[in-house]
Amino acid sequence: MEFSKLAEERYSCRKFLEKKVEDEKIEALIDIIHLAPSAENHQPIRV
Ligand SMILES: Cc1cc2nc3c(=O)[nH]c(=O)nc-3n(C[C@H](O)[C@H](O)[C@H](O)COP(=O)(O)O)c2cc1C
Repeated sequence: MEFSKLAEERYSCRKFLEKKVEDEKIEALIDIIHLAPSAENHQPIRV
């Protein structure tokens, strides 16, 4: 996805469905989250 499209379409989600998220999707997100930059590359993020 183009960054400009991502920036246009993103929003702050304030309502959530009572619906289980598939394990594969959660695992894929965890992999992506770990790509985020962090101070001195400490990667303090816990999921
Ligand atoms: C640095 C930062 C801090 C924010 N803090 C809060 C917050 O404390 N509470 C909240 O409900 N939303 C917070 N927001 C979300 C903004 O209110 C939201 O981005 C804004 O209303 C625009 O809506 P959108 O993200 O759907 O475009 C924050 C956003 C940023 C960038």
